[in-house]
Amino acid sequence: MKIVLLGYMASGKSSIGKRLSEVLDLNFIDLDTYIESCDKMSIKDIFKNKGEIYFRRQESIYLQEVLAQATDCVLSLGGGTPCYGNNTQLLNSTGYHTVYLRAGIATLVDRLTKEKQLRPLVAQLSSDQLTEYVAKHLFERAAFYEQAKQIISIDNKSVEEICKEIKLAL
Ligand code: S3P
Repeated sequence: MKIVLLGYMASGKSSIGKRLSEVLDLNFIDLDTYIESCDKMSIKDIFKNKGEIYFRRQESIYLQEVLAQATDCVLSLGGGTPCYGNNTQLLNSTGYHTVYLRAGIATLVDRLTKEKQLRPLVAQLSSDQLTEYVAKHLFERAAFYEQAKQIISIDNKSVEEICKEIKLAL
């Protein structure tokens, strides 16, 4: 069984993916962590030292690498991974159960305000700018996320509830 979690920054892909992998007794792969360990640099430093275009190239190369190796697993993508090279379609057609963790703008802004420093795309934004940025960016990305086989609204749900919903759909 191969499951991929996708969605906007701070939608819970990593924490839900980790828990889901425990519940299903599967390997867990977090693409951002994989990139960081291969490049021996944090995502923040990759953006700072090499730029976003370099990051997108590495993200795509490492996704192919993970897909070529991965047996049954839960894979959490980065927020931008589905939006470059139409990766949601690729994952759907290669047998992955793709799940979009759909969060509302208020939830995302609230979480990102607390975790902004970890995310280079939003680290420099003020609170007012953050709301506008997330609304526009999510609108642009939604078409890629919504190609997932399963869509779950995650606002006000616990990690356990979300894992249960995913498990029921498998
Ligand atoms: C990004 C999301 C991040 C990380 C990078 C770019 C994006 O991952 O891959 O900062 O473009 O949305 P998370 O979604 O895990 O924060």
